[in-house]
Amino acid sequence: ETNKAFLKVFLDWYDAESRRLPWRESKDPYRIWISEIMLQQTRVQTVIGYFARFLAAFPTIKDLAEAEEDQLLKVWEGLGYYSRVRNMQTAAQQIMTDYDGVFPDQLADIKKLKGIGPYTAGAIASIAFGIPVPAIDGNAMRVFSRLFMINADIQKPANRKIFEAIGQYLVDPERPGDFNQAIMDLGSSYETPKQAMPELSPLRDFTLATLTGTTDDYPVKSKK
Ligand code: ADE
Repeated sequence: ETNKAFLKVFLDWYDAESRRLPWRESKDPYRIWISEIMLQQTRVQTVIGYFARFLAAFPTIKDLAEAEEDQLLKVWEGLGYYSRVRNMQTAAQQIMTDYDGVFPDQLADIKKLKGIGPYTAGAIASIAFGIPVPAIDGNAMRVFSRLFMINADIQKPANRKIFEAIGQYLVDPERPGDFNQAIMDLGSSYETPKQAMPELSPLRDFTLATLTGTTDDYPVKSKK
């Protein structure tokens, strides 16, 4: 069926072309979590250095839970959005008290952690634990909009559920983390916000906007 062909093409592309990034070298949920929080507002190239320094300063969830505030903020200096690291410490303390210091492996529990919203929960659950759920961020909404010519404004929070449903339908049940990270790689290569290079995308033969010559019309965004 179509989705199997789609997934084979997409994951073969990921296997051949995916970026080798430090947080992709292990499935340790602590590492995946740190990287996803950093990547929320910071570029990949910048995150690479901070990721290594953060892990060196706080090698375990316990170290993060017990860190002094000044050291915590120092390690984050330059990344900005300091609420991210404050929330991480609160979540680390939650993990110490509620889960014996072990990062929870159920989606519902991951979502309860401070600072972890639906996107980050999906990313951690799929990448670290192989739970077949999508991770819907701007990249995913952009890619899915073009794939299926979705006429729903991606800037409207209420429309998020449309993209959640598409992601849930498409995600590879065997390799959900790789599927979600393939979307991220596509979103930073051939499907960037500024320009689409639909002829180079591994998904070109499945992308309705490309097949109908309407790539520029997607994603739909409300005028500001
Ligand atoms: N952006 C957000 N999460 C990412 C990941 N795991 N790899 C690359 N870019 C990302």
